[in-house]
Amino acid sequence: MAIRKIVNKSDPVLHCKCKPVEKFDERLHILLDDMKETLAKAQGVGLAAPQVGIRRRAVIIDIGEEESEMIELVNPVILKRSGRQRDVEGCLSCPDEWGYVVRPAKCTVRAQDRNGEFFEMHLEGLACRCACHELDHLEGKLFLELVDEFVELGDEA
Ligand code: NI
Repeated sequence: MAIRKIVNKSDPVLHCKCKPVEKFDERLHILLDDMKETLAKAQGVGLAAPQVGIRRRAVIIDIGEEESEMIELVNPVILKRSGRQRDVEGCLSCPDEWGYVVRPAKCTVRAQDRNGEFFEMHLEGLACRCACHELDHLEGKLFLELVDEFVELGDEA
């Protein structure tokens, strides 16, 4: 495994739509393992492939509940969203920028695992917020455009 460089918001890779993952091969597994290590080192809650310069639909979320198992979502789609939550978000690609974003309170995500098997997950709270944020990265969208109120430095989100 290796730590990959997290690109900054000015990098064009963060502003375009990512392509689906088509090959569930060793190369994907290395990417996912590297993303996990990179996320752990950065102490974030989520990381999308374009943030390490790869224009493919893969994200890692660390929901940080009892087991700090990170979840790999390949080609994820949100099937259902409900409710509303407003809280402070940040992004590893936008250091020192924080702001309030409204997200669904709960969502159901369908994705593939590293071997291409489909599964569904029900997420709520921070995990739901994190998944929504990371999935936006796959569309080339940054949380900054959703912020309704910027806040001074904090360590939330
Ligand atoms: Ni982000």
